[in-house]
Amino acid sequence: MNIKQPLTIAVPKGRILSELEPLLSKVGIYPEAAFFDENSRALQFECKGQPITLIRVRSFDVATFVAFGGAHVGFCGSDVLMEFDYSDIYMPLDMNIGHCRLSIAAPVGVSEKPFARESHVRIATKYPNLTRQFFAKKGIQAECIKLSGAIELAPALGMADRIVDLVSSGATLKANGLEEVAVITQVSSRLIINRSVYKTRSAEIGSMIEAFRGAVDERAA
Ligand code: PRP
Repeated sequence: MNIKQPLTIAVPKGRILSELEPLLSKVGIYPEAAFFDENSRALQFECKGQPITLIRVRSFDVATFVAFGGAHVGFCGSDVLMEFDYSDIYMPLDMNIGHCRLSIAAPVGVSEKPFARESHVRIATKYPNLTRQFFAKKGIQAECIKLSGAIELAPALGMADRIVDLVSSGATLKANGLEEVAVITQVSSRLIINRSVYKTRSAEIGSMIEAFRGAVDERAA
């Protein structure tokens, strides 16, 4: 990897970091110690020996930072990329981390025959676009209540019939009396690049993509 000019990389907060960190090391990106300190309030972090700055943002905002040029590069869930569908983002590599699924869930016991005879459903979700698209294909109108977190609370509190959210272990659904009814899409993290940055810095960015591709392949072997 041969990065010469300053490069800003958007990295999501949260559980993905532990999977991402070894891949960053493999390509020679070593963030300053504060990056790994959950209590640090800093949002930008320098890297040793490289003109690379990492910015730590919410997973849902990575694509927006890259699409609008705030960051040149990012690591972003395919769920978020599908929800926003930004045309300015190039996504050359599946990082093979952050595996989970975007699913519909309903209170346990009321979901045996999902969506039979329904023409309208009310869904709490962070993903209104993907939710509407999924139900529209079935001829069902989805009324979405947009939440940013604690979505699993919505059915029990009478706000929605069902939810659409990420499921990994299923523990959060179980703890809230919900069960998966259908999978909308499988999810993993992607390396993403602002398209105009890719055009103007193709040699540097190309070397970075290949470095990450090697790290991902090595990890899978
Ligand atoms: C995600 C998601 C679910 C949970 C699912 O939230 O929104 O709540 O993980 O994981 P599980 O199936 O292993 O229980 P996350 O913890 O990433 O926090 P968030 O609400 O900030 O997205």
